[in-house]
Amino acid sequence: MKRKTLLLLVAVALTAGAGIWVAQLLIAPPEDRTSPSSADGRIVYGEACARCHGLVGNGKGGNPRLRGRDLARDLIRLRVQSGYRAMPRFPNIRGEALKNLAAHVAAMK
Ligand code: HEC
Repeated sequence: MKRKTLLLLVAVALTAGAGIWVAQLLIAPPEDRTSPSSADGRIVYGEACARCHGLVGNGKGGNPRLRGRDLARDLIRLRVQSGYRAMPRFPNIRGEALKNLAAHVAAMK
């Protein structure tokens, strides 16, 4: 292989790599590494979720309402663990805290 071709291939690979990195930055949801201070679902909600979804889940500032929606616990857990678009993911909410949080949100009437 000619040296010029090799250089071109390297340049293309680097550009593609940078493109994927930028795309991931744009697509991947932000992350909130705050750790819950308790495993009580209501407390975890107040610490991590209320600022966007409102204290009783009415939603605010364009963030969706969670109250009275009959949301499945699995969906709630998935959103918290993986985030979704503008919603950050919360890798530090897991185990009992995550289970209780999902139960709390699912029960918001
Ligand atoms: C920075 C603001 C923000 C925080 C903090 C936040 N969310 Fe969200 N959440 C959003 C936004 C925005 C959406 C809608 C995303 C979309 O559909 O584009 C959303 C969507 C959801 C959904 C899906 C609702 C639906 O209509 O399908 C659930 C469930 C949810 N959030 C639960 C939570 C829980 C539980 C917490 C706390 C751990 C939390 N969110 C923290 C902004 C936030």
